[in-house]
Amino acid sequence: MDDPASAFRSPAAGPRAATGGAWHTLRRSIKAHPVLLACWGLSLLISCGSMLALPLIVARVVDSVRLGDQALIILAIIGTVLAVSTAARFYSVTMIGEYAAADLKSALLAHLLRMDGRFYDSTKMGELTSRMTTDVGMVRFAVGGAGSIAIRCMVTGFGATAVLIISHAQLALYVLLIAPAAGAMTTFGARSIRSGALQLHQLLAEAFALAGERLSANHVVRAFGRESYEAALFHRSLHRVTVAGRNLAAKNAVLQCVTLLALGLGITLTLRQGALLVASGEMSQGALAQFGLYVGVLLMAAIEASHAHAVLQRAKSALEHIDAVLKLPTTPETLSKATRPPSPPEVIFADVSFSHHKTGKKVALDRVSFQAPPGKITALTGPSGSGKSTILALVQRFYPPAAGLIHIGAHNLQDEPTSSTRSLISVVPQFPTIFRMTAAENIGYGNQAATRADIIRAATLAGAASFIEDLPDGYDTILGPSRQPLSVGQAHRLAIARALVSGKPLLLLDEPTSALDAQSEISVVHALRSIATTSTVILATHRPSIMMLADHVVLLEHGRVVLQGSHATLLAFPQYQQIAAGTGEWAGVGSRLQHDVI
Ligand SMILES: Nc1ncnc2c1ncn2[C@@H]1O[C@H](COP(=O)(O)OP(=O)(O)OP(=O)(O)O)[C@@H](O)[C@H]1O
Ligand SMILES: [Mg+2]
Repeated sequence: MDDPASAFRSPAAGPRAATGGAWHTLRRSIKAHPVLLACWGLSLLISCGSMLALPLIVARVVDSVRLGDQALIILAIIGTVLAVSTAARFYSVTMIGEYAAADLKSALLAHLLRMDGRFYDSTKMGELTSRMTTDVGMVRFAVGGAGSIAIRCMVTGFGATAVLIISHAQLALYVLLIAPAAGAMTTFGARSIRSGALQLHQLLAEAFALAGERLSANHVVRAFGRESYEAALFHRSLHRVTVAGRNLAAKNAVLQCVTLLALGLGITLTLRQGALLVASGEMSQGALAQFGLYVGVLLMAAIEASHAHAVLQRAKSALEHIDAVLKLPTTPETLSKATRPPSPPEVIFADVSFSHHKTGKKVALDRVSFQAPPGKITALTGPSGSGKSTILALVQRFYPPAAGLIHIGAHNLQDEPTSSTRSLISVVPQFPTIFRMTAAENIGYGNQAATRADIIRAATLAGAASFIEDLPDGYDTILGPSRQPLSVGQAHRLAIARALVSGKPLLLLDEPTSALDAQSEISVVHALRSIATTSTVILATHRPSIMMLADHVVLLEHGRVVLQGSHATLLAFPQYQQIAAGTGEWAGVGSRLQHDVI
């Protein structure tokens, strides 16, 4: 599939990976709670039985024209059994729904975390969270309520039908003649309801995606004074949801109305016929009352079933959406068990080309070749958009290269599991993420075995120790936007400490010092120098101070390597010299370098 995210829009599209999917997860989750399931089944049978028994007692009372003690006691017992079994049924099925929803959410998160970079490039975060809330909520509502109601309606409906036929087959025929017509109408209506529900879900997901994006960037919205504009945009988006909801509600209403009219007609004809039978003495008044009550049970079952049916249709489309996401292929894993030596590896790019677009229209990397020597620092440098971060993303295997080979040590990345490659790498991203956890947990994120001493040492090396010690609870302060926000420079230093503490043999840093002051930059430079003996370091940078530190410099422009070598060798080129001194222009550096060479 060209666009993996399109599975959200059209669940029928897209390749199917060999994963279990939403139906499988749902079935497994329901089967995992046999006690609740048994409790639900038993209480369902008992409550349906009690409901079907009630009209029999009423008929006897009508025929004997008195409410004797025995009948009263039986009525009280049946009423109590009905109440208790209904409560037990409600509790057990609600819990089954809760467990199913939790399992679906866990399966979704676990699957989404294994998707490759292109999926995240083309999917809005709001759509993802909408899948977890709206769609899973719909399934929970169906499993924990509507599904059980539908089955109860079927049991009571069939039970009432059976009693009606046994008590007076000819009279029952009037009621039952109408059933196939009502069934056909329901099936026809359900199809149209399902397509409406699909559209409603998609529009809802888009509205949530918009709201999520604008809320998370609220400072930009407010800074540009676009609050009213964004509110109006969201309102328009919600209006589309409301229109789709209104159409769906209208279809539902028409379906219910037609079904009930048909049933009502059947019942009126039946009772009229029944009254004639009582008048001619062929039927007792009690038997007619009993017959009428069973028709009532059947009618109630039909009304509730049509409601439950509408909910189940919406839940089915929600589950299809979830299924489409769960079946999207994740980053491929091979079965290789190759173990990697902990020593710093050499990283080789050989004629690597790559485009972020599947069509390959705009090339981000064009036959890039370089070697990052083991245990040394390699700096990727060049103007903005030249492909530095893309190279780091390819090393981390967020995307596969379109052409060429990438080796880490002796291994071609294509031949080994993604997890094996990633187990070698620690990263400082261009825009570091601070999780809502303590400062110590944030730093130790990539190394669960790290001791408090390891964490403090890494924080000191990264120049983060002093500001962490000043936090209200020091290393135990919970960080994150809603708790203890950090400045961009502090977040960068914490991310560097996180990478240092993980102790991996390949360290990737994307603009590690772009948000740091001169003093902090010096401490980071020292930290990088000290770990460069035990790790291979590849960093993307514009900073001359970092380029000077590197053993090997790769200069990129428009996704091509225009120059590479040691910092000292490259200084022979006046253009590079000016850039390294911080006085040169990045733009057009490639062509000016060619001029230097000539
Ligand atoms: N997720 C993406 N989807 C589509 N195109 C992308 C994506 N990420 C980067 N690009 C494009 O790929 C090219 C290389 O981008 P890259 O981020 O690697 O540049 P960079 O050298 O790291 O720039 P900077 O110095 O600004 O960080 C650019 O043209 C950019 O627009
Ligand atoms: Mg970048």
